[in-house]
Amino acid sequence: MTAITISHPLDPLRTEEIVAVAAAVRAAAQYGDLSALVRFITIDLREPDKAAVLDWSRNGGELPPRDAEVVLLDGGDGATHEVTVALDGEARVVAWRRRDDVQPMAVVGELMVAEELVKHDERFRAALARRGITDFEAVQVDAWPAGNFNYEDEVGRRLARCVVFIRPAGEENEWAHPVDGLIALVDLNRQQILRIEDHGEVPIPTEPGDFDATAAGPPRDDIAPLEIVQPQGAGFTVDGNVIRWQRWELHVGFTSREGLVLNQVGYHDRGLLRSIIYRASLSEMIVPYGDPSPTHYFKNAMDAGENGVGVCASSLELGCDCLGEIFYLEANVADADGAPVTIPNAICIHEEDVGVLWRHIDWRRGAGEVRRSRRLVISSFSAIGNYDYGFFWYLYQDGTIEYEIKLTGVLSTGGVAPDEKPRYGTLVAPGLNAMIHQHFFNVRLDLDVDGLENAVEEVWTESEPLGPSNPHGNAYRAHRRRFASERGAIRRTDPASARWWEIVNPRIRHRLGAPVGYRLIPGENAVPFAAAEAAVSKRAGFVREHLWVTPYDRGERFAAGEYPNQHPGGAGLPEWTSADRPIDCRDIVVWYTFGHHHVPRPEDWPVMPVATIGFKLKPVGFFDRNPSLDVPPSVPHRSHRARDGGGAPS
Ligand code: NI
Repeated sequence: MTAITISHPLDPLRTEEIVAVAAAVRAAAQYGDLSALVRFITIDLREPDKAAVLDWSRNGGELPPRDAEVVLLDGGDGATHEVTVALDGEARVVAWRRRDDVQPMAVVGELMVAEELVKHDERFRAALARRGITDFEAVQVDAWPAGNFNYEDEVGRRLARCVVFIRPAGEENEWAHPVDGLIALVDLNRQQILRIEDHGEVPIPTEPGDFDATAAGPPRDDIAPLEIVQPQGAGFTVDGNVIRWQRWELHVGFTSREGLVLNQVGYHDRGLLRSIIYRASLSEMIVPYGDPSPTHYFKNAMDAGENGVGVCASSLELGCDCLGEIFYLEANVADADGAPVTIPNAICIHEEDVGVLWRHIDWRRGAGEVRRSRRLVISSFSAIGNYDYGFFWYLYQDGTIEYEIKLTGVLSTGGVAPDEKPRYGTLVAPGLNAMIHQHFFNVRLDLDVDGLENAVEEVWTESEPLGPSNPHGNAYRAHRRRFASERGAIRRTDPASARWWEIVNPRIRHRLGAPVGYRLIPGENAVPFAAAEAAVSKRAGFVREHLWVTPYDRGERFAAGEYPNQHPGGAGLPEWTSADRPIDCRDIVVWYTFGHHHVPRPEDWPVMPVATIGFKLKPVGFFDRNPSLDVPPSVPHRSHRARDGGGAPS
């Protein structure tokens, strides 16, 4: 391997390292025992021990030993192999573990093989012919994660359930033309079709659903130019993967499965770099659909653990995803042969003006103080099947951290008879049903507020009864209690009691005597509507509750466990927290689940305007007072009048 410089222990693997890792795996004796159908599923950095990273951050010196973790799938016998490769000096395999009880996430090649198999199957073509479809080139077959529904003939197989669409010549949006009722079950390892299910014909909607500039018709012509200009360049610096912006400092990571990762988020305050987050990432997500019909009941895509948010990341160089002075970081993942794939401009870093930061105008003097708010944006977008998800972290000048997911792309669709109203969905075009569904996300927040030993407190507000101490009935106050162990910290949001949670460091107190902390403020949320007994509820138990807190364990990474694909259920948070381990004044991890409830609208078709969901982390007693008092006033500059001339200059 050519010498490369790694400047931080959490830097993602470089392309040269991915090449060296794949070569080391191939050179290992164990590799010789695998079949010709072996695929690399992922090659990622195996993060060093947290203690070693923290020690390096404090004291500098040599980087901790650098390892890679590899997941292989042998399609010959269906086994999964977990391999650790040491990268110091000559890359070499240092651990190899065979697993016969798991299904790693899908790779694109498998899905394409499934599509070709199905498209050339005679039973499938006969089913299409019954529907009057003979142009098989126009047929598109989408392989969905199979889930686990306890079907006997599916045990031990690697599977995809395939649904069918028509893409007529010259059209792009196949979801406008679903072939409802026709499903193929494919064994991905044996590359054979297990079943073609034909549940009867439903008319295929005919209205095109394209949304390119031609399909949209004449563009509106009343858009005035808007340019973001930073004449002195961006206000942040990038040193390798370390970003510094005003008082903030953090490291940006990236993995095949989670995509964007924030590491070691800290804030410079009175000469100290104070720790807030050790590591924050999307740990899992799932989209359960509510339609029980044969074509749709199994749609429970777990886009992180089953498809890989990172490997599906889009390059932002072609679109106009970000505006202004942009700095991009590339991402490197591995393809099925273990070769590096570089996603240029996968991560976008830029600043945004976000209106007023704080303000007071004294009505007597007619004067006062106003400051404008700026935020640092670190974002990426992934296109996963029909949906596109944007993952946006925002850092603000007042110490707030915000996470926002942008949901857009194209709805998953089915067909309905012309005289029918969909029971479990919304008509979005003639004969086109967009099924009701939910999007659940879980973010793993390894918070280290001013150090490792943290605790989580629940804060809620209660009205007080009328009485001698509350004669006017106006009294209400906030209460708090600290979680002692895992089970007690499994909680749901509750707007009726203004419930939120605060991550505190009980050993460090601010000047008024209370522990320093950060408040987790829920945003939009929902509870799952699938029954507790449903397959999806078992496989993705993390969606059943909003808050989970665990003691730090480097092996506990993903809310639905390491291998959710076709898993029978129970893994991840429900399993770990059943031990009810202590969490008070420990190194803890907070897992927050949030759900977007999606009853589609006609306006979500043919492409959805962005919906957003997320949460905020706000300092609470972390600072002694408003930490953004030192933001200087903005310099006013002249504006043009509104175009019609009727507006006042501002
Ligand atoms: Ni949706």
